[in-house]
Amino acid sequence: MTTRLTLPRPDDWHLHLRDGAMMEGVLPASAAHFARAIIMPNLVPPVVTGAEAAAYRERILAALPDDAAFEPLMTLYLTEATDPGDVRAAAEAGIIKAVKLYPAGATTNSASGVRDFDKVRGVLETMAEIGLPLCVHGEVTNAEIDIFDREAVFIERVLHPIREDTPGLRVVMEHITTRDAAEYVAAQGKDLAATITVQHLMLDRNDMLVGGIRPHYYCLPILKRGTHREALVEAALSGDPKYFLGTDSAPHATHAKENACGCAGCFTAPIALSCVAEVFDEAVALDKLEGFVSRHGPGFYGLPVNDDTITLEKGAPIDLPKAVETGAGPVTVFDPGRPLHWHVVAKET
Ligand code: NCD
Ligand code: ZN
Repeated sequence: MTTRLTLPRPDDWHLHLRDGAMMEGVLPASAAHFARAIIMPNLVPPVVTGAEAAAYRERILAALPDDAAFEPLMTLYLTEATDPGDVRAAAEAGIIKAVKLYPAGATTNSASGVRDFDKVRGVLETMAEIGLPLCVHGEVTNAEIDIFDREAVFIERVLHPIREDTPGLRVVMEHITTRDAAEYVAAQGKDLAATITVQHLMLDRNDMLVGGIRPHYYCLPILKRGTHREALVEAALSGDPKYFLGTDSAPHATHAKENACGCAGCFTAPIALSCVAEVFDEAVALDKLEGFVSRHGPGFYGLPVNDDTITLEKGAPIDLPKAVETGAGPVTVFDPGRPLHWHVVAKET
């Protein structure tokens, strides 16, 4: 039985760090385990220009603990007014590694997102030309579409047409939550990949809603039925390089989650690797963990696998941290509701 694993240091291909006091509070948890992370641009106001991304990157680097080795990989928030020239310049200067598409109104801080996809055609064509990936929040926002169907409808009505109209566009379908998405990604060519979160590998909608409503399990896209979770686990365990870890760790102060109208987002960063190792171990597939957390993401983004390593050990169930204190209030740490036996013991640079 494997009880110790040393892997190239993992990366997080979808992370919300926020800004200011919240960022200072949550950043050490990601930097302690992950070497790099794709940083989501949905600040208020959003990060829309190359200059704003460069400034946000500086704020993250300034907030890092002294001993941290962590590289934020910046993204731009796509709006209908985004200038293709600015995207090209920011990519060529190495400031950004992707552009993020939020359909307007899909999720937290997405009001400036895209309504009319014809208006972003020029940007998408530029991205296809220079090979810059588009990270997609894959949900439609039409009021008449049931929240549990929004991802599947998005694939048919939005994602597939965009990809057909923009040959060569490289797309990451972020935080996939359904069998429909996993199958769509598997069936397409090498220009399409997907991230999968911790919570969508571990939980289904019953975990969120049976026996009481659990606000810390509420995220977007929303947890789906168990058969979809099973499809995501199959995809993650398949060894297919199209799937990699994007935690979507999305901190909100505890009072904003435990609320009559609670915010969407699970704060998983402190225990993300323990959770993923647990899932792979339960499935007797620890040999596939390194691909999912350390290799497939850099492969898609055209970056080197990290030289440094991380070591995980299996032992007695770990004590979960209850909350991380930040200058913006305590943030409750995701608790998967079952014991976690794997913990990070060492990081070597
Ligand atoms: C994210 C957030 O809080 O910024 N929330 C979430 O539920 N995942 C936004 C997002 O990624 O959809
Ligand atoms: Zn997210």
